Amino acid sequence: MSHPRFQDDIIYQIYPRSFKDSDGDGIGDIPGIIAKLPYLKKLGITAIWLSPVFASPMEDMGYDIADYYHIDPLFGSDEDMDELIEKAKKNGIRIIMDMVLNHTSKEHEWFKQAAKDKNSPYRDFYIWRETPNDIGATFGGSAWEYNKATDDYYFHLYAPGQPDLNWDYPPMREALYQACDYWLEKGVYGFRLDVIENIGKEVDRHIIQNGPHLHERLHELNRRTFGKYDGIAIGECWCADHDTRLLYTDPAREELSMVFLFNDWCAFHDREFGKWKCRPFNPKEYRDIIYQRQYSDPAKAWDTLFWNNHDLPRALNRYADLRYRDQAAKMMFASTLFLRGTPFIYQGDELGMVNGRFASVKDFRDIEALNHYQILQDKGMSEAEAKLSLDQTARDNARIPMRWNERKGYGFTSGQPWVDGGKDPGHSVAEEEKDPDSVLHFYRSAIALWKDGRLRDLIRDGAFAPDYLEREEWIAYSRILGGKKLRVIANFSNHVYPLPTIDGPVLLHNYQDESPDFRPYEIYVFLNE
Ligand code: NOJ
Repeated sequence: MSHPRFQDDIIYQIYPRSFKDSDGDGIGDIPGIIAKLPYLKKLGITAIWLSPVFASPMEDMGYDIADYYHIDPLFGSDEDMDELIEKAKKNGIRIIMDMVLNHTSKEHEWFKQAAKDKNSPYRDFYIWRETPNDIGATFGGSAWEYNKATDDYYFHLYAPGQPDLNWDYPPMREALYQACDYWLEKGVYGFRLDVIENIGKEVDRHIIQNGPHLHERLHELNRRTFGKYDGIAIGECWCADHDTRLLYTDPAREELSMVFLFNDWCAFHDREFGKWKCRPFNPKEYRDIIYQRQYSDPAKAWDTLFWNNHDLPRALNRYADLRYRDQAAKMMFASTLFLRGTPFIYQGDELGMVNGRFASVKDFRDIEALNHYQILQDKGMSEAEAKLSLDQTARDNARIPMRWNERKGYGFTSGQPWVDGGKDPGHSVAEEEKDPDSVLHFYRSAIALWKDGRLRDLIRDGAFAPDYLEREEWIAYSRILGGKKLRVIANFSNHVYPLPTIDGPVLLHNYQDESPDFRPYEIYVFLNE
């Protein structure tokens, strides 16, 4: 059966600032990534999603693009990017760029022109009103910022330095399509599309996500850019749900390859404080959401399988008892790896990395965290509670440097890392290489199994059937195709259960020894033929 190539991809997300620094300025860069391509090849991934490396004032760490055509000098040169695309390709790895098409930086030339002159050809590239309404910005405060030169307000859903683009204006859309094509022509595989569900917004009607023109715009974006190149497009969609996601992924609609959904993650958010405070994890609630996705019409749905990214604190801290850290890290990866969809690994997942440790509020770097430290106190938290909230939920937790070794600078930099996060003995690439039972070695074996030609069709196309539903702390399911059954049985808890029947060759297991018990966070993957 023919299938789109992204269905055989296993994608690694790099947050460039924190991956590998080659020049000692404490900030990761593209030459650093090039140096680590052999490591990524050995891990077995087929593509890299690179968080933004474009020229930017870095108010939101690069998600504020000032020039879609050039690399920020912090990360290297335009030639370095060309070299990365080429060398990655030689290693069997394709590059997916992170395109922020909902907004630019206020330092973008388009905005600078638009903000100083009402008659500028770029004026309608952005959203202007003489009187602001009450829409709030995600990072705090109003979504409208006053612009003195033109005596009116521009709309920004994120920081004031991130003015939203006006997708109602065709010349603006054309300009973005040209920028996308520029990179596709250079050989990038496609894009991760930042907050793309917002591009149909109608601010006067208070509609942000899922606006009336959203899907026609995605179709146009597909036809005009990545669709022509058979490229991949992964949409970040915080508000899509089980049903609306099919509007994005149904191939007949020619929109996106797949979307990141977050309803599993948001299910544990607090009613009052939202993502800044969470209630305890419950494996059954989590499982119900991800299983439901698997029941969708396979002709229309294709999932993203991920635990972490640069916007979330580490799922290991949130979902697992860290006394069983390594077992839980392995179990979590393998428990969803064999579902129908494209797996994503966020840098450091393969080491079982956990949240950073930040001694003081001053150690956080993210604009959102720093703003919210005050907002949370205004909403009634004490200083200590607000600090605890950042410790548990801030995005900086996942942005701490990749641990290459345990020396000063973590093998990440010879200088002072831009954000720290403290030591974490035993969880660096150098240490884990030496230990055959490490999370890193488990990831390599799991990925090799996932890619194994004998199982590929089964994992990609097999029917999904849940098992052991009465065990509310387990993730257990079968994938079935042509008389073969791949079975996954995972204990997503720190409790001991009687061992289920393992009636077939074991392909993956996260404990070194056998036991008559089903131990905390234990997982078996085996084959019934
Ligand atoms: C989503 C990105 O992942 C996040 O890091 C960023 O702050 C917002 N979009 C705004 O671009």
